[in-house]
Amino acid sequence: MKALVYDGPGKKSWIEVPDPVIKNPSDVIVRLDATTICGTDLHILKGDVPAVTPGRILGHEGVGKITAIGSSVVNLKVGDRVLISCIKSCGSCSNCKIGLYSHCLGDEGVSGIGWIFGHLIDGTQAEFVRVPYAENSLYKLPDSVSDEEAVMLSDIFPTGFEIGVQYGGIKPGDVVAVIGSGPIGLAVIATAGLYGAARIIAVDLDANRLEMAKEFGATHSVISSAPDWKAQVMALTDGAGVDVAIEAVGLPETFTMATEIVRPGGHVANVGVHGKEIVLHVEKLWIQNIFISMGLVNTSSTPMLLKLVESKKLPAAKMVTHRFNFDQFLEAYDTFGRAAQTKALKVLISR
Ligand SMILES: NC(=O)c1ccc[n+]([C@@H]2O[C@H](COP(=O)([O-])OP(=O)(O)OC[C@H]3O[C@@H](n4cnc5c(N)ncnc54)[C@H](O)[C@@H]3O)[C@@H](O)[C@H]2O)c1
Ligand SMILES: [Zn+2]
Ligand SMILES: [Zn+2]
Repeated sequence: MKALVYDGPGKKSWIEVPDPVIKNPSDVIVRLDATTICGTDLHILKGDVPAVTPGRILGHEGVGKITAIGSSVVNLKVGDRVLISCIKSCGSCSNCKIGLYSHCLGDEGVSGIGWIFGHLIDGTQAEFVRVPYAENSLYKLPDSVSDEEAVMLSDIFPTGFEIGVQYGGIKPGDVVAVIGSGPIGLAVIATAGLYGAARIIAVDLDANRLEMAKEFGATHSVISSAPDWKAQVMALTDGAGVDVAIEAVGLPETFTMATEIVRPGGHVANVGVHGKEIVLHVEKLWIQNIFISMGLVNTSSTPMLLKLVESKKLPAAKMVTHRFNFDQFLEAYDTFGRAAQTKALKVLISR
């Protein structure tokens, strides 16, 4: 089969590799129909994730059909059309039992790490993939949900909803600011209304991304390069700050921005992946009674989000701005990697 293989920092190729085979009784093999590229894949390619070693097939999002099943798999069969979740879940460890799949203790990849595809085991940017713990890590898809809608549920929508909206504790009537309108920030914006956010303020440097934010449900937008960006956000509240400030960028400055606009008693939910040290001004924040949360997505909300997509209540397909086929993989990476120029949000790569 062909696959997108990481060859070390800055290097990748779409090359012929051996087909995956069933290794454990709970495995299945999926023939991918569609996959996509995540910002995390770009981080890996820069060499920011040293756990990813040369030779690894990248990708942790995908949709396809089962071509082989392990001996203990009973609830899935060859031919089933399935969504692949970005997080493994053995379903039986103490963390899986409480829905903390992000820290699944199953020893596939590394025990205690839920994100393994395209990281610690071969991923989904390939014609076929081996899926461990398949009965708990795959979701059967109804015919009415398209490949492009479904693939947005592998990572983007559960991440925005669980780590942004749910950890942020959004309540009816809340004023919510979302810093960063990339695919993750847009998924936060699209799901913030589920818990009754009254105002959703999108904050980004990029005017095009703010336009997109309005399409996904933002009620207001603020360009964060404006010297008075903070005053603009405050003017959209009762003056005390937003109820929930969500960081969806992954930079020290954007995390600090979230702590500067949250009201006393409010929540800061960090979704961004951070690589640099951040100064947290506890000497100023202690008296504010704020809650700060962060974490890796569990994907425990995937079945619920799938129902919303099925009933056309989530604009999942709108996330796809560019389409490619498998032999244009390198072109897809180029388009996604130059998102500021190409205006790419998510690129769909299909068979
Ligand atoms: N916690 C998790 O489980 C999880 C899962 C997936 C992704 N993530 C992380 O979520 C973050 C967002 O992902 P994405 O794919 O949407 O990223 P992205 O790079 O596509 O989007 C980031 C957005 O932030 C904007 N931005 C940059 N600097 C800014 C600033 N100073 N002020 C305001 N906006 C600014 C950019 O213009 C862009 O629109 C990343 O850090 C990613 O790694 C976390
Ligand atoms: Zn991802
Ligand atoms: Zn587990």
